[in-house]
Amino acid sequence: MPNRAVVLLKVLVHLACLAPFLILAWHTYHDLTHPDSVALLGPDPTAALSHGTGFAALRILIISLAITPVRRLSRSLGWLVRFRRMLGLYAFFYASVHLLVYLKLYANLDWPTLVDDLSKRRYIIAGFSAWLLLLPLALTSTKWSIRKLGKNWQVLHRLVYVAALLGIIHYWWIVKTGVLDPLKITIVLAMVLLARPAWSWIDAKRRQRHMAEA
Ligand code: HEM
Repeated sequence: MPNRAVVLLKVLVHLACLAPFLILAWHTYHDLTHPDSVALLGPDPTAALSHGTGFAALRILIISLAITPVRRLSRSLGWLVRFRRMLGLYAFFYASVHLLVYLKLYANLDWPTLVDDLSKRRYIIAGFSAWLLLLPLALTSTKWSIRKLGKNWQVLHRLVYVAALLGIIHYWWIVKTGVLDPLKITIVLAMVLLARPAWSWIDAKRRQRHMAEA
């Protein structure tokens, strides 16, 4: 794909990634400044802000993980890799806004509440652990860190798989028992993660066949 087209696509991806935040920010501003009109965030603004930012974080994280297996489908898709870092950073951005929503609107910036939640509520422990894993990945997403860390960078960034799994576990532990809402996104993550060993297996088979034909 020509460089200009990739740049244009990057602008579109930036807009698509920013859209959930801009919509939630506009709804929040509207509801705070027009208390007498219909609330755009709905009857439970805390849940709306938490769910909106949580879903954005999880979806963008899984899209960023899908880039490697999709890119393998054809050599002409190599340019997709140029979107991985920006998507990873947007996933971290939304997870951080999500954390701020929790700290302000759920925990009321009250330290004992946070400690209590972190010691008792397993979905908060899973969510917080996912965020803690995304933090070093975001901090080492610069070209300088990639050069500096060398091979360790690849090893460190495998933590993204664990962060995505913890995000999914967090979601399952939030919904009531028997509710299967998280199932669809869980299947998508499973396919994205299993695509990697599947491609390695296909490669090994191809190599074996070439060796046998040689
Ligand atoms: C940083 C630490 C985190 C905290 C304290 C936290 C806390 C919360 C809370 C309080 C809710 C709302 C629960 C409810 O409605 O009862 C929630 C929902 C959600 N969180 Fe997190 N979370 C964190 C990290 C994450 C991360 C890293 C992800 C994704 C990668 C994520 C994805 C979600 C999703 C998808 C929902 C919506 C679930 C639903 O609609 O039922 N969260 N989180």
